[in-house]
Amino acid sequence: HVDLGSSLDATPGVSRASLERLDEQVAAAHERIAAGRDAHEHGYEALNLPSTVDLDAIRTAVAPFDDAEAVLTVGIGGSALGAATFADALAGPDDPDAYFLDNVDPEHVSRLLDSLPLDRTVLNVVSRSGTTAETLANFLVVRESMADAGVDWTDRTFVTTGESGNLRSLAEKHDLPSLSVPDGVPGRFSALSTVGLAVAAIQGHDLDAIRAGSADAAGGLSGSLFETPAYAYGATTYALAGRGAVTNAMMPYAERLETFAEWFAQLWAESLGKDGLGQTPARALGATDQHSQLQLYRAGPRDKLVTLVRPRDYSDRAIPETDLDGLSYLGGSSLGDLLDAEFEATEASLVESGVPAIRVEIDAVDERSLGSLLYEMEAACVLYGELAAVSTFTQPAVEWGKNAARGLLGGGDFEEAEAVDQRTSLV
Ligand code: PA5
Repeated sequence: HVDLGSSLDATPGVSRASLERLDEQVAAAHERIAAGRDAHEHGYEALNLPSTVDLDAIRTAVAPFDDAEAVLTVGIGGSALGAATFADALAGPDDPDAYFLDNVDPEHVSRLLDSLPLDRTVLNVVSRSGTTAETLANFLVVRESMADAGVDWTDRTFVTTGESGNLRSLAEKHDLPSLSVPDGVPGRFSALSTVGLAVAAIQGHDLDAIRAGSADAAGGLSGSLFETPAYAYGATTYALAGRGAVTNAMMPYAERLETFAEWFAQLWAESLGKDGLGQTPARALGATDQHSQLQLYRAGPRDKLVTLVRPRDYSDRAIPETDLDGLSYLGGSSLGDLLDAEFEATEASLVESGVPAIRVEIDAVDERSLGSLLYEMEAACVLYGELAAVSTFTQPAVEWGKNAARGLLGGGDFEEAEAVDQRTSLV
């Protein structure tokens, strides 16, 4: 459920008449998206995942690890954030712990490896290209740590990668269980594929429900923003960007959705930041950031919109009664009541200050709702990219950095590395 709230009619929101005009472009963009999906074109194919993802292949690949106490994913960007979103949203106290090594900060890597029971940990190495330096370096370090601890890493490792490349060769050489990254699905659009769902499978989450939620969202895509929540979000954020809201602060009111905001930030930034266009994603958490970032959102530069996300249903906790002076109003209430009041107060205060706010509500932080939410945000992003006429599914600036880093370490002849060398010699 996307509630366009104040942005539907109020200045500096988008008037109903503007949205109606924009809806003609949405209809054309929807046709383009549908044609891309039918032709299995790169990127658009991600929106077909609810019907193409092979859940049995995922279950088979992770079956040897049903005794795992922990799962350590080595991957970065789109090869980690979808899985991390599910893990942080869904993990219960009895599930295997999920850890993610994306960065190559040596202190962090060493501390994490020192703290893990490596003989009872599954190593999940994920890289679509099989060439990402951070992922391969971390894999080599983890493999060495396992060997040092007397663990046969080939018994504890599975790989998710493309049909060819270094990681695929490694999996074949050592006969490791492996999964394929589906063709046509860029990293940041792969949460609902093998890439995002393997850790959820190890943790015992309901993959069928995730898929059912995403299938509901896919089935709901129509040619009008007034009928399709995903398109309502994509079109309104696009329209607001054109009216100066060049920052989009994603602010879930649920701790378990904090990583979702990180996933969203990657999706929005890497897909839409092209040709001098885009909308800078900011990450916030309600109610915590009411005590920090909200000051800026309300009273700082008028260049933002705020997306407020909350579950309608959650397990609540009562606030104990008290006769302490000034606190009795809290007694008999609940933490959930308080969080809801904070949410509504934030929304009202933004509107009051003329800052556009978009409300996104999901049923609960569960598999089905997450499947819908992630799919809808992806569809919103694809729609925004169509309206802005940017190349949503490429990431040349990210590739530039990857090539430069590889080249600097002697991993190939890359012109990007030469550019860095020249620049460094000028400093
Ligand atoms: O969305 C993207 O394409 C990127 O964020 C990639 O997922 C990230 O760079 C990791 O790439 P790879 O999976 O090839 O290691």
